[in-house]
Amino acid sequence: MKILIIGGAGYIGSHVARAFLDHGYEVTVFDNLQTGFRENLFEDARFVHGDIMHPEQLRAVMAGGYDGCVHLAALKAAGQSMLHPDAYAESNISGAINILNQASAAGISPIIFSSSAAVYGSPQYLPIDESHPKEPENFYGFTKLEVERLLDWYDRLKGMRYAAIRYFNAAGYDVQGRIKGLELNPENLLPIVMEVAVGIREKLSVFGDDYPTRDGSGIRDYVHVSDLAEAHVTAFEYVVKHDKSLVINLGSQTGVSVLEMVERARAITGMPIPAEIRGRRAGDPAELVASSSKALELLGWVPKYSDVDTLVSTTWKMYEKHVSR
Ligand code: WQD
Repeated sequence: MKILIIGGAGYIGSHVARAFLDHGYEVTVFDNLQTGFRENLFEDARFVHGDIMHPEQLRAVMAGGYDGCVHLAALKAAGQSMLHPDAYAESNISGAINILNQASAAGISPIIFSSSAAVYGSPQYLPIDESHPKEPENFYGFTKLEVERLLDWYDRLKGMRYAAIRYFNAAGYDVQGRIKGLELNPENLLPIVMEVAVGIREKLSVFGDDYPTRDGSGIRDYVHVSDLAEAHVTAFEYVVKHDKSLVINLGSQTGVSVLEMVERARAITGMPIPAEIRGRRAGDPAELVASSSKALELLGWVPKYSDVDTLVSTTWKMYEKHVSR
């Protein structure tokens, strides 16, 4: 079967492309290489350099006929989305509309959509299941929820099936080291910790140690990107088999605190990783942990690599060659 992966040269997208290839799919990657890397492209996948903001480029690539499409091309920094909502609206919402309209015209369905736990906002209960209220607190989360709403209407009006996959905190790298590109100017905890470990950054700022958590620092549900990628294949196959759309959380269901992550990183890297306790970051909830029981029940999805030591060690393998001191 042929699958089109839009945004397949990015951090998560390249792992998703790898998973579909490993399952024997014929993969085409469509990417503008704005945040993705050419070095993340695979020999056994076709690559089309294009931009979702150009409907004619989408029309051209979709003319190839596909059994489904994975859409991961979006801006994803929550903090930046509050400063530049126009850029996020254009890329994440208008870009998605272009994809849906061209996919509809080309008769491509299902759409597997990279959504986010950010659609929930602050947790009203834990663990967060798919029925939790959707009250996003950053514009990034709003854009993801808006696209989910579009998908629901395209399903109802056009029969375009979809799977919306709500990622919790994606981390780690391919255990076989097949993904080469390092995120530039990362905003997320683990890559920042690694930049401190190799000397790219001087120290880590720990955003708050006065939260009502076991050690006072923020707790998140980190899920290995390869576990995430595998779920995209099984979600695609589920939607095709049942001709029924799906919305699922993907998280490890275990919480790790910032201080615990730093401690494991020091132990595994052997580097000091200096850290300074700072004030809380605006908009950060104390704790976010997923319920992924729906993914387990419907897809049989069980994370294999999402333990903290595998997350840290696979990321360290990517960074250790960049030690600058
Ligand atoms: C994790 C924890 C911080 C950096 C964001 C997006 C979310 C999703 C995942 C896409 C928090 C703490 C972080 C640092 C720190 N993205 N931290 N010092 O905020 O949980 O979620 O990324 O889908 O939409 O909002 O991830 O990695 O920024 O933070 O102390 O330098 O690490 O306070 O507790 P977050 P994060």
